[in-house]
Amino acid sequence: MSSIEQIVRGASLDLSPRPSRVGEQLAAAEGATISDDLRIDANSDTYEWDGWPLARSYDGHFDRAARRRMVAGQAPLAARLAEHASRLRGELLEIGPFFTPLATPARFPDCRIIYWENDPYAVTWLRRTHGTYGKADVVTLDLLDAEAPGFLTTTREHLASHDAELLDVAIISQVLNYVDYRALLRVVASAMRSGGLVAVNNVVNYGLPLFFADRRPQSVEETIATIEATGFDVVCCDVIPAQWDVQAGEPRLVILAEKRAT
Ligand SMILES: C[S@@+](CC[C@H](N)C(=O)[O-])C[C@H]1O[C@@H](n2cnc3c(N)ncnc32)[C@H](O)[C@@H]1O
Repeated sequence: MSSIEQIVRGASLDLSPRPSRVGEQLAAAEGATISDDLRIDANSDTYEWDGWPLARSYDGHFDRAARRRMVAGQAPLAARLAEHASRLRGELLEIGPFFTPLATPARFPDCRIIYWENDPYAVTWLRRTHGTYGKADVVTLDLLDAEAPGFLTTTREHLASHDAELLDVAIISQVLNYVDYRALLRVVASAMRSGGLVAVNNVVNYGLPLFFADRRPQSVEETIATIEATGFDVVCCDVIPAQWDVQAGEPRLVILAEKRAT
């Protein structure tokens, strides 16, 4: 039996519809308090972000409703992270935080935060908003180029600037559709210590189609298999039935996985 089948058969991955679960998770996320509160970032209330005016709706794929869905879609992962708060320490990388990072220096006082982001407006906002704590580093990297020479070097240089060698946590929320996700997971795995945690939130083929990468995930099963194949063991995994028509029936995968000892 493959490890995916084991997960599907085991309690950690329930593929049966659980319509009430999302509401529970949203409520849990809103009420979650760890020393660093995992509430959805207040700057998202207006859904007006520098460089991304609401008037630019991308054929409706990024109108106000889509932005509200984007923020709401973070809640199940926020809830899972809150449950595993004791593991959120050390070097934390959030990939593609945009204007709504799940990890901020105020919420994660025990972490050294690195953001990887390639949107120049988001980079400026992140530096202004979270860089001022003197803890969050914002690195401009194009993740389409995840295997280019220098990518890992840049990451390691940043870890070294924190007197660290390896990552403890990586958060990848609603980013996999825009990148070569296998390459990205390989890079994250190679920069992470054994026992480190990767946290992923993704709906296949959902987001801004204009920016979709050819090498994005094709299914939940494939994504889980890739996470495992790149060196992680599943810690917890939710497959949440599609909440909105625009998901075209694709469920949301929310998964925490631990870097296997090598
Ligand atoms: C849909 S947003 C996700 C925002 C937030 N993490 C969330 O959960 O809603 C996708 C993010 O991935 C980033 N991104 C997309 N393509 C990228 C690339 N090639 N390199 C680096 N970041 C990229 C975008 O700038 C944006 O921050």
